[in-house]
Amino acid sequence: MAKHPTDPEIEVPSAVDSESYPDSAAVAPSETPPNNRLSRRSFLSHLGAAGLAAAAPPVLASASTPVAPPPVATEEVLPEGTVALTLKVNGQSHALQLDPRTTLLDCLRENLALSGTKKGCDHGQCGACTVHVNGRRVNSCLSFAVMHRNDEITTIEGIGQPDHLHPMQAAFIEHDGYQCGYCTSGQIMSAVSVLKENVGPTDADVKQAMYGNICRCGAYSNIVAAVQQVRHSS
Ligand code: FES
Ligand code: FES
Repeated sequence: MAKHPTDPEIEVPSAVDSESYPDSAAVAPSETPPNNRLSRRSFLSHLGAAGLAAAAPPVLASASTPVAPPPVATEEVLPEGTVALTLKVNGQSHALQLDPRTTLLDCLRENLALSGTKKGCDHGQCGACTVHVNGRRVNSCLSFAVMHRNDEITTIEGIGQPDHLHPMQAAFIEHDGYQCGYCTSGQIMSAVSVLKENVGPTDADVKQAMYGNICRCGAYSNIVAAVQQVRHSS
């Protein structure tokens, strides 16, 4: 016990009396903290270093770590939702990037500007979109372009030009095998293919073979006449 500073008769507990305040000695500021405890200063020191490391930009936090160079693009990045393909049309190869849902008809007309092939119904019912795939007639509106990566595609532009007409084109002109002309490219493409098929000799056979090509102008008899002329002259 210590004496009161102004009244010696009064005894007061000593601040360093280890018997009265056994715990106070353990936390006396002048003593070194136990090994498993941090002093306030060292705690703040650690906290500050960690905070700096967390807040610093990555380049500062890892200044000694080599920064990897950005990857070098080795393949062309395609627009989202498209596929790359090459189509061979009229003897020419065309590199394309298409929505895989693009029909062969739309690809020919919209991507390759081969507008001689017509879109009538877009549902396989009129024949205006007829082209040749590997020599056989096909409704291009019913076929996806991506299905023809390895095919030979021929359009009306590929069988003849104004200064060098295919015999079937010339026969259609000679027999007036058209009026408005909208169905005509499909009729001609179908007729060229029909003559390579096992079709009977009569006009009715020709009509039967070309029943998938509709002519709203009703030029059927002249169309048949043109087909038969080419058949007999070749
Ligand atoms: S547009 Fe293809 S069949 Fe009519
Ligand atoms: S010529 Fe007009 S639809 Fe055939």
